[in-house]
Amino acid sequence: MTSIIKIAQKTLIGNRRKGYTLPTNNKLYPAQWNWDSAFIALGYSYFNFNFAIKEIKTLLDGQWKDGMVPHILFHDTNTNYYPNHTAWNCGNKIRSSGITQPPVLASILKQILDKNKINKKQRLEIKKIVKKIKKFHEWFIKYRDPKKTGLVSILHPWESGYDNSPIWDEPMKKVVVEKNIKYKRADNKLINPDHRPLDIDYDRYVTIKNNLRKSNYNPKKLYKSSLFNVVDVGFNSIFLRANKDLVSILKNFNLDTLSISKYIKITEKNILKLFDKKKGNFFSLDIKNKKKIEIPSITNYFILFADLNNRQINNKLIKNLKRHNKKEKYFFSSIKPNHKSFEEKRYWRGPVWINCNWIIYKGLKNKDYLFSKKIKNLTIKLIEKKGIYEYYSCKNGKPMGASNFSWSAALYLDLILNKN
Ligand code: GLC
Repeated sequence: MTSIIKIAQKTLIGNRRKGYTLPTNNKLYPAQWNWDSAFIALGYSYFNFNFAIKEIKTLLDGQWKDGMVPHILFHDTNTNYYPNHTAWNCGNKIRSSGITQPPVLASILKQILDKNKINKKQRLEIKKIVKKIKKFHEWFIKYRDPKKTGLVSILHPWESGYDNSPIWDEPMKKVVVEKNIKYKRADNKLINPDHRPLDIDYDRYVTIKNNLRKSNYNPKKLYKSSLFNVVDVGFNSIFLRANKDLVSILKNFNLDTLSISKYIKITEKNILKLFDKKKGNFFSLDIKNKKKIEIPSITNYFILFADLNNRQINNKLIKNLKRHNKKEKYFFSSIKPNHKSFEEKRYWRGPVWINCNWIIYKGLKNKDYLFSKKIKNLTIKLIEKKGIYEYYSCKNGKPMGASNFSWSAALYLDLILNKN
């Protein structure tokens, strides 16, 4: 067991570059990714506090003037990745993508601060970080929820972090692929193409991206003009929890909490509109095409992480969650295996992801302790048995995708070393 802790630490160090960490040490993801970095920082906090803070600082160095923290920062512009910095053609101090990713950072920072004593100098440094995170959250509220419904939209499937999920199938079908679209993807040359998104999906991803670029990524325009606009349950659950954690951090630093606290109240009320009483599940909303999206995705259970103060709903969700993987030895599969969209090996359409298990484990801890412990132990065992990979088959635990995967290493460290 101890040796796996060492291997996890070595994985992070091995993937570390100048002040930031790659998602893996192969060529698949040669940049800094937003939510990967947050998870990675948590991992570092168990053996190198300075690296943890530096990881977050570097990510926030890429923040745009309007407050957005991009989903990718291209510190190294000489790579084979597509879409690269020229395809996006944007960024503030650092070349970046023009979209964002799930804002888990505030929740991660809270966890790091809860378990570490900081000195005066560190407090000043972290105060700057906190202000930037607040600006990021205010950007979401201002530009991704212009009607102040309490629910924010994502404007590209990549913003969700679960890029290739069947949740996006219906809204994506409506996206008409640009004429004469030309680009060279690299991912399916590096990894078995049967595990990666189909070409038609990639065409649509690139079409949506090019459309955002046409508006010069102007946040005032994009909400309306984007070819894709979805209120996703998982994403909003992460944001709600992050807002709650942010308020607690802001108080700690004597910073104003009003704008965030107000928004939490609206979200807590309106997120219930996404609850289907009959089925006992939450669903996402395709804003662009005014349609419900009913896909049994594990990310719909991220609502447990948001800590809704509603025992009846929480109990119903937990009951359903226990049925998500009845026959499978390894869980949670990203999609319920009996659903028509389930694919055992294609990424985000079936495989088990460590960050999803982690989010659900954290959400269950104060609601069903025994079940949460079971998830934690199974996740730890999966990594110890199969290695530190990007994702795994729910049928036989077969590891897939990138090896030496940073967030799997980082979250393993939290699962095994966090004594709370
Ligand atoms: C893939 C995942 C995304 C992740 C990125 C880097 O694009 O879908 O969630 O951030 O890889 O690991």
